[in-house]
Amino acid sequence: MSDDLHARSGLPEAYRYLLADLPRERWHGQEVAAMARFWLQMHSGFRREVAHMDALTGRWRAGQLALPDLHRQLIPTLQQFLQHLDGHHNIETHHYFPTMRKVEPRIGAGIDLLDRDHDVIHGHLDSLFQTGLAFHQGVSGNAPTAGDSAARLAEAIDKAGPALARHLDDEEDIVVPLITKHVDHFKG
Ligand SMILES: [Fe+2]
Ligand SMILES: [Fe+2]
Repeated sequence: MSDDLHARSGLPEAYRYLLADLPRERWHGQEVAAMARFWLQMHSGFRREVAHMDALTGRWRAGQLALPDLHRQLIPTLQQFLQHLDGHHNIETHHYFPTMRKVEPRIGAGIDLLDRDHDVIHGHLDSLFQTGLAFHQGVSGNAPTAGDSAARLAEAIDKAGPALARHLDDEEDIVVPLITKHVDHFKG
Protein backbone atom coordinates (compact mmCIF):
# COMPACT_ATOMS: atom_id res chain seq x y z
CA MET A 1 0.00 0.00 0.00
CA SER A 2 1.42 3.39 -0.95
CA ASP A 3 0.56 4.80 2.50
CA ASP A 4 3.05 2.39 4.11
CA LEU A 5 5.70 4.04 6.23
CA HIS A 6 8.51 2.66 4.06
CA ALA A 7 6.84 3.65 0.81
CA ARG A 8 5.46 7.14 1.32
CA SER A 9 7.32 10.43 1.03
CA GLY A 10 4.99 12.53 3.15
CA LEU A 11 1.61 12.67 4.82
CA PRO A 12 -1.11 11.77 2.27
CA GLU A 13 -3.22 14.68 1.04
CA ALA A 14 -6.43 13.48 2.73
CA TYR A 15 -4.91 14.09 6.17
CA ARG A 16 -3.33 17.46 5.47
CA TYR A 17 -6.41 19.66 5.97
CA LEU A 18 -5.49 20.47 9.59
CA LEU A 19 -2.01 21.49 8.50
CA ALA A 20 -3.55 23.80 5.89
CA ASP A 21 -5.08 25.83 8.74
CA LEU A 22 -1.81 25.97 10.68
CA PRO A 23 1.17 25.56 8.33
CA ARG A 24 4.65 24.79 9.64
CA GLU A 25 5.80 28.37 9.01
CA ARG A 26 3.57 29.37 11.92
CA TRP A 27 4.72 26.70 14.36
CA HIS A 28 7.07 28.99 16.20
CA GLY A 29 5.80 30.75 19.26
CA GLN A 30 2.40 31.26 20.81
CA GLU A 31 0.24 30.27 17.83
CA VAL A 32 0.92 26.66 18.73
CA ALA A 33 -0.57 25.14 21.92
CA ALA A 34 1.87 24.45 24.75
CA MET A 35 1.17 20.71 24.60
CA ALA A 36 2.00 20.69 20.88
CA ARG A 37 5.27 22.51 21.55
CA PHE A 38 6.08 19.88 24.17
CA TRP A 39 5.33 17.19 21.58
CA LEU A 40 7.74 18.81 19.13
CA GLN A 41 10.43 18.88 21.83
CA MET A 42 9.98 15.15 22.49
CA HIS A 43 10.33 14.47 18.76
CA SER A 44 13.45 16.64 18.58
CA GLY A 45 14.92 14.48 21.33
CA PHE A 46 14.38 11.33 19.25
CA ARG A 47 15.94 12.96 16.18
CA ARG A 48 18.97 13.97 18.26
CA GLU A 49 19.39 10.46 19.65
CA VAL A 50 19.27 8.94 16.16
CA ALA A 51 21.75 11.53 14.85
CA HIS A 52 24.07 10.75 17.75
CA MET A 53 23.89 7.00 17.07
CA ASP A 54 24.45 7.60 13.34
CA ALA A 55 27.52 9.72 14.11
CA LEU A 56 28.98 7.03 16.38
CA THR A 57 28.49 4.16 13.93
CA GLY A 58 29.80 6.40 11.15
CA ARG A 59 33.01 7.08 13.06
CA TRP A 60 33.42 3.39 13.87
CA ARG A 61 32.92 2.41 10.23
CA ALA A 62 35.50 5.03 9.22
CA GLY A 63 38.01 3.54 11.65
CA GLN A 64 37.94 6.62 13.88
CA LEU A 65 36.38 4.89 16.88
CA ALA A 66 37.57 1.66 18.54
CA LEU A 67 35.05 -1.07 19.23
CA PRO A 68 35.13 -0.69 23.06
CA ASP A 69 34.59 3.08 22.68
CA LEU A 70 31.69 2.50 20.30
CA HIS A 71 30.22 0.13 22.86
CA ARG A 72 30.69 2.51 25.79
CA GLN A 73 29.08 5.43 23.98
CA LEU A 74 26.44 3.74 21.87
CA ILE A 75 24.78 1.33 24.30
CA PRO A 76 23.58 3.94 26.86
CA THR A 77 22.19 6.13 24.06
CA LEU A 78 20.48 3.14 22.49
CA GLN A 79 18.92 2.08 25.79
CA GLN A 80 17.66 5.58 26.48
CA PHE A 81 16.29 5.90 22.96
CA LEU A 82 14.42 2.57 23.13
CA GLN A 83 12.88 3.40 26.50
CA HIS A 84 11.85 6.92 25.53
CA LEU A 85 10.36 5.93 22.21
CA ASP A 86 8.51 2.91 23.55
CA GLY A 87 6.99 5.03 26.33
CA HIS A 88 6.11 7.81 23.90
CA HIS A 89 4.35 5.47 21.46
CA ASN A 90 2.44 3.81 24.27
CA ILE A 91 1.00 7.06 25.53
CA GLU A 92 0.19 8.18 21.99
CA THR A 93 -1.53 4.95 20.98
CA HIS A 94 -3.43 4.38 24.22
CA HIS A 95 -4.12 7.90 25.43
CA TYR A 96 -3.73 10.74 22.93
CA PHE A 97 -4.79 9.02 19.72
CA PRO A 98 -8.18 7.88 21.14
CA THR A 99 -8.83 11.46 22.32
CA MET A 100 -7.91 12.79 18.88
CA ARG A 101 -10.30 10.38 17.18
CA LYS A 102 -13.08 11.62 19.48
CA VAL A 103 -12.57 15.37 19.15
CA GLU A 104 -11.71 15.27 15.41
CA PRO A 105 -13.56 12.30 13.85
CA ARG A 106 -12.64 13.36 10.31
CA ILE A 107 -8.96 12.49 10.98
CA GLY A 108 -9.75 8.88 12.00
CA ALA A 109 -8.07 7.25 8.99
CA GLY A 110 -5.04 9.47 9.52
CA ILE A 111 -4.75 8.20 13.10
CA ASP A 112 -5.07 4.63 11.75
CA LEU A 113 -2.06 5.41 9.56
CA LEU A 114 -0.05 6.64 12.56
CA ASP A 115 -1.00 3.54 14.56
CA ARG A 116 0.20 1.33 11.68
CA ASP A 117 3.45 3.33 11.66
CA HIS A 118 3.90 2.48 15.33
CA ASP A 119 3.60 -1.24 14.54
CA VAL A 120 6.25 -0.94 11.83
CA ILE A 121 8.55 1.06 14.12
CA HIS A 122 8.13 -1.51 16.87
CA GLY A 123 9.62 -4.07 14.50
CA HIS A 124 12.63 -1.76 14.18
CA LEU A 125 12.82 -1.31 17.95
CA ASP A 126 12.84 -5.08 18.37
CA SER A 127 15.75 -5.52 15.99
CA LEU A 128 17.59 -2.61 17.63
CA PHE A 129 17.11 -4.29 21.00
CA GLN A 130 18.20 -7.73 19.76
CA THR A 131 21.24 -6.53 17.82
CA GLY A 132 22.16 -4.13 20.64
CA LEU A 133 22.02 -6.96 23.17
CA ALA A 134 24.14 -9.23 20.96
CA PHE A 135 26.72 -6.44 20.57
CA HIS A 136 26.77 -5.78 24.30
CA GLN A 137 27.21 -9.48 25.12
CA GLY A 138 29.86 -9.85 22.44
CA VAL A 139 31.97 -6.98 23.79
CA SER A 140 31.43 -7.98 27.44
CA GLY A 141 32.52 -11.54 26.71
CA ASN A 142 35.43 -10.50 24.45
CA ALA A 143 33.88 -12.51 21.64
CA PRO A 144 35.83 -12.46 18.36
CA THR A 145 32.51 -11.80 16.59
CA ALA A 146 31.82 -8.54 18.48
CA GLY A 147 32.72 -6.52 15.37
CA ASP A 148 30.14 -8.42 13.32
CA SER A 149 27.56 -7.75 16.01
CA ALA A 150 28.42 -4.05 15.88
CA ALA A 151 27.94 -4.09 12.10
CA ARG A 152 24.51 -5.68 12.47
CA LEU A 153 23.48 -3.10 15.07
CA ALA A 154 24.73 -0.30 12.80
CA GLU A 155 22.62 -1.71 9.95
CA ALA A 156 19.56 -1.87 12.20
CA ILE A 157 20.13 1.81 13.07
CA ASP A 158 20.47 2.62 9.35
CA LYS A 159 17.06 1.06 8.70
CA ALA A 160 15.23 2.45 11.72
CA GLY A 161 16.36 6.07 11.33
CA PRO A 162 14.63 7.02 8.07
CA ALA A 163 11.40 5.21 9.01
CA LEU A 164 11.23 7.03 12.32
CA ALA A 165 12.06 10.38 10.70
CA ARG A 166 9.15 9.93 8.24
CA HIS A 167 6.77 9.02 11.05
CA LEU A 168 7.76 11.94 13.27
CA ASP A 169 7.28 14.48 10.48
CA ASP A 170 3.94 13.08 9.36
CA GLU A 171 2.63 12.72 12.89
CA GLU A 172 3.54 16.33 13.63
CA ASP A 173 1.60 17.44 10.55
CA ILE A 174 -1.51 15.96 12.15
CA VAL A 175 -1.06 16.42 15.89
CA VAL A 176 0.39 19.93 16.12
CA PRO A 177 -2.55 21.64 14.35
CA LEU A 178 -5.06 19.20 15.90
CA ILE A 179 -3.95 19.87 19.48
CA THR A 180 -3.91 23.60 18.80
CA LYS A 181 -7.40 23.47 17.31
CA HIS A 182 -8.83 21.47 20.23
CA VAL A 183 -6.62 22.95 22.91
CA ASP A 184 -9.18 22.54 25.72
CA HIS A 185 -8.97 18.74 25.39
CA PHE A 186 -5.18 18.75 25.64
CA LYS A 187 -4.28 20.62 28.77
CA GLY A 188 -1.32 19.77 30.93
FE1 LIG B 1 4.10 8.31 17.02
FE1 LIG C 1 5.22 11.02 18.49
